[in-house]
Amino acid sequence: MSNQLIAIIGGTGDQGKGLALRWAKKGFEIIIGSRDRERARAAAAAARAMLKASGADNVNLEGATNADAAAAAQIIVLTIPFAAQIATLKEIREKIKAGSLIVDVTVPLEPAVGGKPTRILGVWAGSAAQQCRELAPEGVQVVSAFQNVGAEALISLDREVECDVIVCGDDKEAKQSLRPLVAAIPGCRYIDGGPLANSRTVEAITALLIGFNIRYKTHTGLRITGIE
Ligand SMILES: NC(=O)c1ccc[n+]([C@@H]2O[C@H](COP(=O)([O-])OP(=O)(O)OC[C@H]3O[C@@H](n4cnc5c(N)ncnc54)[C@H](OP(=O)(O)O)[C@@H]3O)[C@@H](O)[C@H]2O)c1
Repeated sequence: MSNQLIAIIGGTGDQGKGLALRWAKKGFEIIIGSRDRERARAAAAAARAMLKASGADNVNLEGATNADAAAAAQIIVLTIPFAAQIATLKEIREKIKAGSLIVDVTVPLEPAVGGKPTRILGVWAGSAAQQCRELAPEGVQVVSAFQNVGAEALISLDREVECDVIVCGDDKEAKQSLRPLVAAIPGCRYIDGGPLANSRTVEAITALLIGFNIRYKTHTGLRITGIE
């Protein structure tokens, strides 16, 4: 287990909550971030109660503003709607310490401009993850991951999450540092997705999975075969 503090920016939403629950259950130190301190604290209290009910002990999970969470953490996970990505990064970027790692989970789905969740938006930077890197401070690595993992599966603590996690990034060491976070989620498997530019493809797969979910009335995940 890593002893690094993890801030989940927008952690009051479903995806952030799911990741916070899974990681806190395995002993990672988590701060749920929100634009509103009280909302963050309430989300943290609710998550602690869920974890207690699931039998988890010694949980270290608090709530703070996004800015305070980003200032305190070594790993900063972005789980905010695409439409809020630029403004949120501009708000927290000054707070992020050099040497930290940003993990972008953002998917640029069409509802950001009023369209369908089964369609992906074109992003000038190439992908949401590359847009994140353009806004990240100097000396801070950016990787993308967990875009294909559904919140529903993450929040169901009694079940395994049947999904491979494709990690994209331009720095090998930064990507490797996600291995423990992926391994902490039962059923998930780390897959090296290559450079950050490949995130464009990974983000688009989420729109495809949402389409499957609608057509088959289920919660789908992703498995890559042929890799031991
Ligand atoms: N949900 C999933 O199953 C899933 C799966 C894979 C990837 N993702 C991606 O993960 C990200 C988060 O998904 P989600 O479903 O958790 O999203 P969400 O619930 O809509 O939003 C997450 C949090 O972002 C904050 N937020 C909302 N609008 C904002 C704005 N205009 N400015 C700043 N902050 C804002 C809110 O926190 P506060 O109001 O407390 O600040 C909210 O609780 C998205 O990019 C999504 O595409 C989601």
